Amino acid sequence: MAELERTSASQPAAPAEWAYASAPEARDIVRLADRYGHFVGGDWLEPTETYATIAPRDEEVLATVGQGTPADVDRAVAAARAAYADGWSSLPGSERAKYLYRIARLLQERSRELAVLESLNGGKPIKESRDVDLPLAAAHFFYYAGWADKLEYAFPNRRPRPLGVAGQIIPWNFPLLMLAWKVAPALACGNTVVLKPAETTPLTALLFCDLLRQAELPPGVVNIVTGDGRTGAALVEHPGVDKIAFTGSTAVGKEIQRRLAGSGKRLTLELGGKAANIVFDDAALDQAVEGIVNGIYFNQGHVCCAGSRLLVQESVYEPLVAKLERRLATLRVGDPLDKNTDVGAINSAAQLAKIRELVASGLEEGAEIYQPPCELPEKGYWFPPTVFTSVAQSYRIAQEEIFGPVLSVLTFRTPDEAVAKANNTPYGLSAGVWTEKGSRILWMAQRLRAGVIWANTYNRFDPSSPFGGYKESGFGREGGLHGLEPYLEFEE
Ligand code: NAI
Ligand code: MG
Repeated sequence: MAELERTSASQPAAPAEWAYASAPEARDIVRLADRYGHFVGGDWLEPTETYATIAPRDEEVLATVGQGTPADVDRAVAAARAAYADGWSSLPGSERAKYLYRIARLLQERSRELAVLESLNGGKPIKESRDVDLPLAAAHFFYYAGWADKLEYAFPNRRPRPLGVAGQIIPWNFPLLMLAWKVAPALACGNTVVLKPAETTPLTALLFCDLLRQAELPPGVVNIVTGDGRTGAALVEHPGVDKIAFTGSTAVGKEIQRRLAGSGKRLTLELGGKAANIVFDDAALDQAVEGIVNGIYFNQGHVCCAGSRLLVQESVYEPLVAKLERRLATLRVGDPLDKNTDVGAINSAAQLAKIRELVASGLEEGAEIYQPPCELPEKGYWFPPTVFTSVAQSYRIAQEEIFGPVLSVLTFRTPDEAVAKANNTPYGLSAGVWTEKGSRILWMAQRLRAGVIWANTYNRFDPSSPFGGYKESGFGREGGLHGLEPYLEFEE
């Protein structure tokens, strides 16, 4: 006994240091080529212009990729048209479904490789790409595979038909997931595709081409042309494209809509947001804090439906903000490939500059800032988790999409005031409501002008649930039965 006591006295019960040891995910599963072309007609098309794509965590050059020219886009559209006419559009739905199931299974089989590459090229934490992006991307293919042979049942007596060639332009915040949201329903409905990834995150889309070959998808059904906005504009303007699906900024969305006016091309737009996350005084505050953190710091806040405006009922303002700031201090900011990282790297120098500019405007307009102490790596693009209090509705940080890990806190007294403040935005993509009262959730949901409303949770996604906006957040829905419609026409 004496022996035992002596041992325990000499060994302290708890270590002095509770910090996590680093737990890097191995990156050798990813084999990158030095140089990539465009994926056209099932083959690699040598690009005429190129640029380097980097890792935002340290600016390491990962590969050289093509800057698609109008001629490259033209070849991709021709390949998509040929594949459409040569059989894809007339293939029975059950046969198209087989390809989609195969792609879904390959996404699962190769998920670690894709997740590592997604984090490397985009900067998001590996635990998010591993546990959110990849499972959801596979789920979208599984889900739409299920619809491919049931379109007649989805739209009874309306004789659904594919549109033809879909031009799809996607952003950098969920590169592979946005690809899945676009490609899966298009193929399920019998269309062929030309997809342009965002300029900063082309690599998982290029690796996806390897999966398409493995799945033996007929050449030309999916074509991928990399490049920046000029490549996107060439795709928008190509006369051989029947439909454009775009996810990105409201400014570019408006520009695309102007360009397509009168062209007869179909269009869906999924644009920005400035969502209100609304906490009533009867909400479970600790759970709400987790939802607020998930709402704005998930994926560094590079999320169109991020809960970037926190509306707190005045009576719980002080305890809630105190809990939130305490929680912020526990977030681990750093290497996206570290399995313990909560907040990764900002996607690009341009996005970092935009975040800094808006944060500076918040300080200038009179808001109070809180940032937990955290050491940021020297190289690469980083921004600490940030909370602004004393924010007026007129401030830019309460009006504009920051698309970074920056939360603006406002208060309200009554449910009516919460609704009025929540809807005081040109956007309308999403909202969150935290309350114990079911009737209040329904009352709020009827009044909030937003496409998606979460209750006592945030940032939950499921392929069977339609997603899309009101007002300047765009139009058209992705996901669910609704997500089929933009890729079909009907004989009525
Ligand atoms: P962006 O709208 O310029 O880029 C999105 C996609 O559109 C990219 O693939 C880009 O190459 C392409 N694109 C750019 N100009 C085009 C044009 N004229 N025609 C056709 N395609 C074009 O967005 P950016 O500049 O990367 O980010 C700016 C801001 O937009 C962000 O700070 C954020 O507020 C917002 N944004 C919102 C997204 C969302 O998910 N709703 C995604 C990305 C950005
Ligand atoms: Mg832009």
